[in-house]
Amino acid sequence: MRAVQVSEYVKGPLDLKVTDVPTPTPATDKYLIEIHSAGTNFFDILQIQGKYQHQPPLPWIGGAEFAGTITAIPISSKNPRFKVGDRVFGATQGAYATHVLAPEHTLLPVPAGWSFEDAAGLFVTAPTSYGGLVHRAGVKAGDWVLVHAAAGGVGLAAVQIAKAMGATVVATAGTERKRQIAREFGADYVVDYGNRDWPEEVKKLCKEKRSGNGAAGVDIVYDPVGMIEASLKCVAWNARLLVIGFAAGKIEKVALNRVLLKNVSLVGLHWGQYAKFETGTVGDVWNGIFDLVAQGKFRGTAFKDESFVGLESVPKALQALGGRETWGKVVVNVVGNEKAKSRL
Ligand SMILES: NC(=O)c1ccc[n+]([C@@H]2O[C@H](COP(=O)([O-])OP(=O)(O)OC[C@H]3O[C@@H](n4cnc5c(N)ncnc54)[C@H](OP(=O)(O)O)[C@@H]3O)[C@@H](O)[C@H]2O)c1
Repeated sequence: MRAVQVSEYVKGPLDLKVTDVPTPTPATDKYLIEIHSAGTNFFDILQIQGKYQHQPPLPWIGGAEFAGTITAIPISSKNPRFKVGDRVFGATQGAYATHVLAPEHTLLPVPAGWSFEDAAGLFVTAPTSYGGLVHRAGVKAGDWVLVHAAAGGVGLAAVQIAKAMGATVVATAGTERKRQIAREFGADYVVDYGNRDWPEEVKKLCKEKRSGNGAAGVDIVYDPVGMIEASLKCVAWNARLLVIGFAAGKIEKVALNRVLLKNVSLVGLHWGQYAKFETGTVGDVWNGIFDLVAQGKFRGTAFKDESFVGLESVPKALQALGGRETWGKVVVNVVGNEKAKSRL
């Protein structure tokens, strides 16, 4: 098979090469999958440089998220969930390849009517945002939710989930194109958080459009960037501020007196650890997401302004992602655009 194999750490994505490696053979406890599309993540860029928390022993194949077709079931499985030919998506090491082996708990069925391209970006973003907003922050109809970096991978998922739950969404993003995308995915209001006074803008909006406690600010902040400190300026009594990530590169320190004075909660979420500490919630979260998909309230967020076709385009795709030039999920269509975009 062909794969983006890392034999030594590289300086950046453009140093990656596609090589021929042996195709995995059917395994006792894993499915063999032909990959149609692979999702990119910022941590892939860290991993190829040797800077990520999870570094397999060299050599290894890059990439984590994928969607494709089952070509062999686990040899020892008596009651496999999937059969040969099933369309699945999931995450495991080695997604930048034509084939991958993956255990059953890392796979889910591609939703009806979805392309491989859209499904390849679903496994991480959707449950992070659903778990955060629904299970951790208890979003409900009538809430106002401030979503930072709303055109990013987890951001666009958060916008759709908050809207589906009946909330009003205020979305922040750094460029006009990204604010336009946030609107297309349902945001009610957009704010340029490159402008230093952005919390004032949010406060003004709430004062004009809300009443009672809500006139002071939003009820929930969804923060994958590291904007908690500034967001505390525009929250309502009892607000929940979700700590999702630090895309800006700095881990914030927050003055806790403001948490007390405003009577708010800082709430963390570490989605990857739910599979270890709260397996029941994993199923509930996915049931909730598949319900929204079936109701047409959640759609794929694959970046459409440029196409990345074939494994040779992995370096360019990762370079674009790292350069903050893209929105939604940057997906590489490993088998070509036509096959990866087909919807069943
Ligand atoms: N807690 C969890 O379980 C969990 C799960 C998944 C992801 N995450 C984290 O959530 C964060 C976002 O993930 P994602 O998949 O949405 O990433 P993404 O698609 O790359 O989006 C990140 C967004 O952050 C904004 N940003 C602000 N400052 C930035 C900077 N200095 N460099 C790059 N981007 C910057 C950018 O939007 P603008 O250009 O509009 O500013 C960008 O669109 C990451 O830190 C990730 O590790 C956490």
